[in-house]
Amino acid sequence: MAEKKEIYKELLSFAKQSVENSYSPYSKFQVGAAVLCQDGKVYCGTNIENASYGLSICAERVAIFTAVSNGSKNIKAVAVYSKCGNVTPCGACRQVISEFSQKADIIYNDKNNKIKVEKIMSLLPKSFNKQSLK
Ligand code: THU
Repeated sequence: MAEKKEIYKELLSFAKQSVENSYSPYSKFQVGAAVLCQDGKVYCGTNIENASYGLSICAERVAIFTAVSNGSKNIKAVAVYSKCGNVTPCGACRQVISEFSQKADIIYNDKNNKIKVEKIMSLLPKSFNKQSLK
Protein backbone atom coordinates (compact mmCIF):
# COMPACT_ATOMS: atom_id res chain seq x y z
CA MET A 1 0.00 0.00 0.00
CA ALA A 2 2.87 2.37 0.88
CA GLU A 3 4.36 1.59 -2.53
CA LYS A 4 1.07 2.46 -4.23
CA LYS A 5 1.07 5.87 -2.54
CA GLU A 6 4.59 6.51 -3.86
CA ILE A 7 3.58 5.49 -7.38
CA TYR A 8 0.56 7.82 -7.20
CA LYS A 9 2.69 10.70 -5.94
CA GLU A 10 4.99 10.20 -8.91
CA LEU A 11 2.01 10.06 -11.28
CA LEU A 12 0.74 13.35 -9.85
CA SER A 13 4.19 14.88 -10.39
CA PHE A 14 3.96 13.91 -14.10
CA ALA A 15 0.56 15.63 -14.23
CA LYS A 16 2.13 18.68 -12.59
CA GLN A 17 4.84 18.82 -15.25
CA SER A 18 2.17 18.72 -17.97
CA VAL A 19 0.55 21.88 -16.61
CA GLU A 20 3.51 23.77 -18.08
CA ASN A 21 2.31 22.84 -21.59
CA SER A 22 -1.28 23.95 -21.00
CA TYR A 23 -2.75 25.96 -23.87
CA SER A 24 -5.45 27.89 -22.04
CA PRO A 25 -5.38 31.53 -23.21
CA TYR A 26 -9.18 31.89 -22.74
CA SER A 27 -9.88 30.42 -19.31
CA LYS A 28 -6.31 30.83 -18.05
CA PHE A 29 -7.04 27.68 -16.06
CA GLN A 30 -4.18 25.24 -16.40
CA VAL A 31 -4.68 21.52 -15.89
CA GLY A 32 -2.29 18.61 -16.30
CA ALA A 33 -3.09 14.90 -16.35
CA ALA A 34 -1.16 11.65 -16.31
CA VAL A 35 -2.59 8.20 -16.94
CA LEU A 36 -1.06 5.01 -15.55
CA CYS A 37 -1.99 2.00 -17.68
CA GLN A 38 -2.14 -1.68 -16.70
CA ASP A 39 0.96 -2.29 -18.82
CA GLY A 40 2.87 0.15 -16.58
CA LYS A 41 3.11 2.88 -19.20
CA VAL A 42 2.36 6.51 -18.36
CA TYR A 43 0.86 9.03 -20.78
CA CYS A 44 0.45 12.73 -20.08
CA GLY A 45 -1.87 15.43 -21.34
CA THR A 46 -2.83 19.02 -20.78
CA ASN A 47 -5.90 21.09 -21.58
CA ILE A 48 -5.92 22.58 -25.07
CA GLU A 49 -8.36 25.41 -25.78
CA ASN A 50 -9.58 26.97 -29.00
CA ALA A 51 -10.94 30.35 -30.12
CA SER A 52 -14.06 28.35 -30.95
CA TYR A 53 -14.52 27.58 -27.23
CA GLY A 54 -16.51 24.38 -27.63
CA LEU A 55 -13.56 22.69 -29.31
CA SER A 56 -11.45 22.92 -26.15
CA ILE A 57 -10.45 19.62 -24.60
CA CYS A 58 -9.58 18.68 -21.02
CA ALA A 59 -6.19 17.43 -19.91
CA GLU A 60 -7.60 14.06 -18.86
CA ARG A 61 -9.07 13.25 -22.27
CA VAL A 62 -5.86 14.30 -24.04
CA ALA A 63 -3.89 11.92 -21.79
CA ILE A 64 -6.35 9.04 -22.21
CA PHE A 65 -6.65 9.43 -25.98
CA THR A 66 -2.85 9.49 -26.21
CA ALA A 67 -2.69 6.25 -24.18
CA VAL A 68 -5.26 4.54 -26.39
CA SER A 69 -3.57 5.83 -29.57
CA ASN A 70 -0.38 4.19 -28.35
CA GLY A 71 -2.02 0.82 -27.69
CA SER A 72 -2.68 1.10 -23.93
CA LYS A 73 -6.41 0.60 -23.39
CA ASN A 74 -6.59 -0.43 -19.76
CA ILE A 75 -6.38 2.38 -17.26
CA LYS A 76 -5.20 1.83 -13.70
CA ALA A 77 -5.12 5.43 -12.47
CA VAL A 78 -5.58 9.00 -13.66
CA ALA A 79 -3.81 11.89 -11.91
CA VAL A 80 -5.09 15.46 -12.29
CA TYR A 81 -3.02 18.44 -11.23
CA SER A 82 -4.14 22.06 -10.96
CA LYS A 83 -2.39 24.94 -9.21
CA CYS A 84 -5.55 25.79 -7.22
CA GLY A 85 -6.10 22.17 -6.17
CA ASN A 86 -9.26 20.09 -5.71
CA VAL A 87 -9.91 19.64 -9.43
CA THR A 88 -11.46 16.28 -10.24
CA PRO A 89 -12.38 15.19 -13.79
CA CYS A 90 -15.45 16.83 -15.36
CA GLY A 91 -18.47 14.69 -16.26
CA ALA A 92 -17.33 14.09 -19.84
CA CYS A 93 -13.90 12.94 -18.68
CA ARG A 94 -15.44 10.67 -16.01
CA GLN A 95 -17.46 9.00 -18.76
CA VAL A 96 -14.33 8.54 -20.92
CA ILE A 97 -12.35 7.13 -17.97
CA SER A 98 -15.17 4.66 -17.22
CA GLU A 99 -14.97 3.40 -20.83
CA PHE A 100 -11.45 2.12 -20.13
CA SER A 101 -11.82 1.07 -16.50
CA GLN A 102 -14.55 0.71 -13.90
CA LYS A 103 -11.92 0.42 -11.19
CA ALA A 104 -9.57 3.31 -11.94
CA ASP A 105 -8.20 5.39 -9.09
CA ILE A 106 -8.46 9.16 -9.57
CA ILE A 107 -5.62 11.07 -7.95
CA TYR A 108 -5.54 14.83 -7.43
CA ASN A 109 -3.99 17.48 -5.24
CA ASP A 110 -6.07 19.39 -2.72
CA LYS A 111 -5.69 23.09 -1.87
CA ASN A 112 -2.77 22.27 0.47
CA ASN A 113 -1.11 20.15 -2.21
CA LYS A 114 -1.94 16.98 -0.31
CA ILE A 115 -2.60 13.92 -2.46
CA LYS A 116 -6.21 12.66 -2.63
CA VAL A 117 -7.46 9.38 -4.12
CA GLU A 118 -10.99 8.48 -5.19
CA LYS A 119 -12.48 5.63 -7.22
CA ILE A 120 -14.01 6.40 -10.63
CA MET A 121 -17.05 4.40 -9.46
CA SER A 122 -17.69 6.86 -6.64
CA LEU A 123 -17.28 9.86 -8.97
CA LEU A 124 -19.52 8.33 -11.66
CA PRO A 125 -21.77 5.63 -10.21
CA LYS A 126 -24.04 3.61 -12.52
CA SER A 127 -22.24 4.83 -15.63
CA PHE A 128 -23.45 3.97 -19.10
CA ASN A 129 -20.74 1.69 -20.50
CA LYS A 130 -20.04 -1.28 -22.75
CA GLN A 131 -21.77 -3.67 -20.30
CA SER A 132 -24.91 -1.54 -20.64
CA LEU A 133 -25.04 -2.37 -24.37
CA LYS A 134 -25.15 -6.17 -23.82
N1 THU B 1 -10.32 21.38 -17.49
C1 THU B 1 -9.53 20.27 -17.55
O1 THU B 1 -8.60 20.20 -18.36
N2 THU B 1 -9.78 19.27 -16.69
C2 THU B 1 -10.71 19.31 -15.70
O2 THU B 1 -10.85 18.33 -14.96
C3 THU B 1 -11.54 20.49 -15.52
C4 THU B 1 -11.45 21.51 -16.59
C5 THU B 1 -10.01 22.50 -18.39
C6 THU B 1 -10.99 22.73 -19.51
C7 THU B 1 -10.76 24.21 -19.80
O3 THU B 1 -9.65 24.33 -20.68
C8 THU B 1 -10.35 24.79 -18.46
O4 THU B 1 -9.96 23.70 -17.64
C9 THU B 1 -11.45 25.57 -17.76
O5 THU B 1 -12.61 24.85 -17.68
